[in-house]
Amino acid sequence: MAGGAILRAGNGGKDYPGKMTLFVFLACLVASSGGLIFGYDIGISGGVTSMDGFLVKFFPSVYRQEKEDASTNQYCRFDSQLLTAFTSSLYLAALIASFFASTVTRAFGRKWSMFGGGITFLVGAAINGAAESVLMLLLGRILLGVGVGFTTQSVPLYLSEMAPAKLRGMLNIGFQLMITIGILAANLINYATAKIKGGWGWRISLGLASVPATIITLSSLLLPDTPNSLVERGHGEKARLMLRRIRGTADIHAEYEDILAACEESRAIEHPWSTILRRRYRPQLTMAVLIPFFQQVTGINAIMFYAPVLFKTVGFGDDASLMSAVISGLVNKLATFVSIATVGRRKLFLQGGVQMFISQAIVGTMIAIKFGTSGSAASLSKSYANGMLLFICTYTAGFAWSWGPLGWLVPSEIFPLEIRPAGQAITVSVNMLFTFMVAQAFVAALCHLKFGLFYLFAAWVVVMTVFVAFFLPETKNVPIEEMILVWQQHWYRGKFIADEDVNDDVVGSIEMGKNRSYTGRV
Ligand code: BGC
Repeated sequence: MAGGAILRAGNGGKDYPGKMTLFVFLACLVASSGGLIFGYDIGISGGVTSMDGFLVKFFPSVYRQEKEDASTNQYCRFDSQLLTAFTSSLYLAALIASFFASTVTRAFGRKWSMFGGGITFLVGAAINGAAESVLMLLLGRILLGVGVGFTTQSVPLYLSEMAPAKLRGMLNIGFQLMITIGILAANLINYATAKIKGGWGWRISLGLASVPATIITLSSLLLPDTPNSLVERGHGEKARLMLRRIRGTADIHAEYEDILAACEESRAIEHPWSTILRRRYRPQLTMAVLIPFFQQVTGINAIMFYAPVLFKTVGFGDDASLMSAVISGLVNKLATFVSIATVGRRKLFLQGGVQMFISQAIVGTMIAIKFGTSGSAASLSKSYANGMLLFICTYTAGFAWSWGPLGWLVPSEIFPLEIRPAGQAITVSVNMLFTFMVAQAFVAALCHLKFGLFYLFAAWVVVMTVFVAFFLPETKNVPIEEMILVWQQHWYRGKFIADEDVNDDVVGSIEMGKNRSYTGRV
């Protein structure tokens, strides 16, 4: 560490300027728009694959099977692996792309990853809207996936680095808010295009993905890079000016020194992938894997992808099913604001977990009462169906203020700079892998596990809530380059981090004494 550096870890960022400047607000708003493309895609596929025109053109056998299926077993009505492959293939592409994105993000800066993601998504949207064959559809899906991989890798990092420590949660959740806006927009568009006579409404649904893609592509060109990334790439002076600008004050010395120290560490690391496997990073690595895994086994995408199918399964008509998807999409978006307003990570995780568990257990039981194990039901009364929609919405709300936003926020803020892009790539790829698996398995799982599927998701929610209670420290208000202290002081996680590791690290490379401690609540 350069001599003269100020010893300054462990004060919880008290001497960091914490106000929101217009500049940082706009930069974060623009960057968050990367969430739109991810959300749009999540929301659009389910509706499109339930449109007859789309099925007749690309998956005629699925169409015939659905129409000819006279069985009364509701659980199995939509079980087609071919069709789910269309939805889920994108997530495999995103998984692979996120690893390439981590290299781009580290070497060229966060904004070029966003740009690359936006432009690839744009091409994918055009190919999909114009698709004439399954091959074109697939190619389009792969490009969309690459776009999603790049943006989900870079946007959360960008937001966490730009934001002042005290507002990091709030600004980072802008990403999730944009995801939910993307989902809702897609639900509404499907609701409208499904009504188009002639069966080509799906083209509009798929082609309109070019709108959010254009937004993030153009936006990324306007964005400045983060001070952290500028320093890391050797532009120290530019970084200092940028920090002044985004913090709206010349008093940025303390924060700048922390970034410099973090970069010093970062430059010494040539191979982030082998570095991340070291024992001292075990706590963060565990979170980078488990948090996205848990986020997906809440079962949220069973609702997001298959809401129309699920509502049809429980007896809603075509129109009512799409409308119900719109309602749960709206709840998803509005509930995200609760998170923005509070964002104490642990409290939200715990409260959201309890709410999701109760709602899922009730939905599972309502389906069990009505459909039993045979899957046949006479008819569903309106009030019964509405009751079910209500509990699906309380479940969605619980997710939307807990695991939804925090599933992206927490992994993006816990890694030290030198392995932050690699850590984020792991988070994205685990998230995409399990998004893929839930998407691929849901309809078959519903057919085999029946109402038990909801109990299975509920059981996972219990596991993750207990896990958070014991193993996740509170990261609210902790400056990003001082996070190591939070881990070091955790009752269990601290075992993995020796004092030398902290000394070695960001803050500690500045002769940090043992008596220094992080003063926030851990
Ligand atoms: C998850 C998505 C999910 C969305 C729902 C995101 O945080 O990563 O898989 O569909 O939230 O709003």
